[in-house]
Amino acid sequence: MVPKNLIIFASGTGSNAQKIIDFFRNDPTVKISLIVCNKPGAGVLDIAAREGIPTLLIEKEQFFRGNGYVDELKAYHPRLIILAGFLWKLPPALVKAFPHQIINIHPALLPKYGGKGMYGHFVHDAVIAARDPNTGITIHYVDELYDHGDYIFQAKVPIEAGDTADSIAKKVQVLEHTHFPRVISELLDKTEKA
Ligand code: GRF
Repeated sequence: MVPKNLIIFASGTGSNAQKIIDFFRNDPTVKISLIVCNKPGAGVLDIAAREGIPTLLIEKEQFFRGNGYVDELKAYHPRLIILAGFLWKLPPALVKAFPHQIINIHPALLPKYGGKGMYGHFVHDAVIAARDPNTGITIHYVDELYDHGDYIFQAKVPIEAGDTADSIAKKVQVLEHTHFPRVISELLDKTEKA
């Protein structure tokens, strides 16, 4: 049986990448084939090394030029490309090469608090400033605009008196770790049946 290949794009500490790896560790039908990163020294590269997963360290000029890294990525025949803390907007050639196969997780309830520069504590600061009663996560397909494609899943968590950007980040991370691997697994089941 040929396993379904996943490619993870991440440039941060990689806690979501780790949860995804853990979730599929004992599943012979799914393989994390490659971790793509744009930041030398990022924590996710240590995770990849420890887990024995190949990495591709990408370079900005090549990523945005012509066909970018499309051929390298196609060689892995990915079922899904998963953005888990990857901050560059994807070039059109990449989005076109993998229609409805690229997904992202955003640490807020889109369409609020998305777009360029909206990542990490900037998102949570904005949520606090707006005095929203809740925040959450959005898992969505990726298109050529920031944080824009069709939504796949959202989950909410209340904001309580005394919450700070840090405490909200922790709550949101719990949601991410709880739901992202499961949603990926369900999507893989769906693509199988399609
Ligand atoms: C997550 O909050 C995710 O929503 C955002 O980037 C962060 C990645 O965190 N897109 P980690 O590197 O997985 O810990």
